[in-house]
Amino acid sequence: MMTDSHRAPPGGFVATRREAFPNRTDQKPSRALGNVLCLDDFEAPARRILPRPLYGYIAGASETNASLDGNAASFRRLRFRPRVLTDVSARHQRRMLMGTEYAAPFGIAPMGISALMAYRGDIVLARAAEAAGIPMIMSGSSLIPLEEIAAAAPSSWFQAYLPGEPDRIDALVDRVIAAGFGTLVLTVDTATLANRENNVRAGFSTPLRPSLALAWQGLSHPRWTCATFMRTLLRHGVPHFENSYATRGAPIVARSVMRDFGKRDHLNWTHLERIRARWPGKLVVKGIIRAEDALATLERGVDGIIVSNHGGRQLDGTVAPLDVVGAVVEAVGGRAAVMLDGGVRRGTDVLKAIALGADFVFVGRPFLYAASAFGFSGIERAIAILMEEIHRDMALLGVEHLMDLDRSFLAKAA
Ligand SMILES: Cc1cc2nc3c(=O)[nH]c(=O)nc-3n(C[C@H](O)[C@H](O)[C@H](O)COP(=O)(O)O)c2cc1C
Repeated sequence: MMTDSHRAPPGGFVATRREAFPNRTDQKPSRALGNVLCLDDFEAPARRILPRPLYGYIAGASETNASLDGNAASFRRLRFRPRVLTDVSARHQRRMLMGTEYAAPFGIAPMGISALMAYRGDIVLARAAEAAGIPMIMSGSSLIPLEEIAAAAPSSWFQAYLPGEPDRIDALVDRVIAAGFGTLVLTVDTATLANRENNVRAGFSTPLRPSLALAWQGLSHPRWTCATFMRTLLRHGVPHFENSYATRGAPIVARSVMRDFGKRDHLNWTHLERIRARWPGKLVVKGIIRAEDALATLERGVDGIIVSNHGGRQLDGTVAPLDVVGAVVEAVGGRAAVMLDGGVRRGTDVLKAIALGADFVFVGRPFLYAASAFGFSGIERAIAILMEEIHRDMALLGVEHLMDLDRSFLAKAA
């Protein structure tokens, strides 16, 4: 399933902002961007710019944050055993995934309501990813119609949250087909809404309830209020959940917004079969943890799975994807692409996942922080940082091609 191209190396990522994004819709590059040296460095500027409830929505996970913390810890438990004296001068990180070659082995994970964090957030994320040659998965909880993303960045993937209701499934799948997406991602770890106490404590709610506290957050974060919120209201009106079904959903402030999420707890394997029969493109299932579930998706003809615990945002205490990806890879045996997300922050994290057999990884929060604080330039920089780290780490590991990586390069931390 997974092969690497052995053509000449591009190494690091170089694309000028103008080439990458001729019709910019974000703010100008900031000098503060120069202080960002790694993906974690995007969090502090985003925290300063965003109202507390919005920062809390991105940063938080569910209940005790056990899975969120566990995701980060899983990478720290692994160490490298580098190989030396191999000529790595022709190294490259291009990666074939489900028939498409990407410039790097990582992409941008789907994140809901991104357009509330950065002006036209999903479009900016999608365009930056497309310009860099990596995939971006647009969220089914996006506030921008999926047709606009497909038009702005045609290589984007679409992620759906579907209820166990055949009519609604068929209607959304038909809409995604009509928009021209090539890859549909079905997220399956959300049978019900998670218990995100920290969102409540930070003042975030769905629907968003206007309050004095929220108004104060707007006043005390003027850059976000002017550059993202007011600009959105003035140009596009009150944001709605646009992509839950075939037609426009409820506005984010509406009481009916919860009803809009539908009967997700009815979703089962027969619905996956139905989606497979209707969807002609690549089909990916996101939120797999167990090897037997991976096998069950294979029996339904999926092209790829994303091993994920939703960044620790669903069932608190779910095992870290990195800890189970090896078993899933073994069970799948190359019959579908195996991807992973959750806690990937460094080039070394990407390479650890690949050494365990993952074909590809996705990164969530850091890209949304980058978009919130710096718009397109921030995402561009975040992608470049991760590519540069991978390029450097491959040299230090002694590998020219990602397919050379295997478990022999890893050791458990003492
Ligand atoms: C703010 C935010 C919103 C998210 N929204 C969605 C979503 O709409 N659909 C989905 O499948 N996953 C969603 N996720 C989960 C991500 O796709 C991904 O699984 C997770 O963020 C990866 O972990 P990381 O943030 O540690 O990289 C969201 C995550 C965050 C942080």
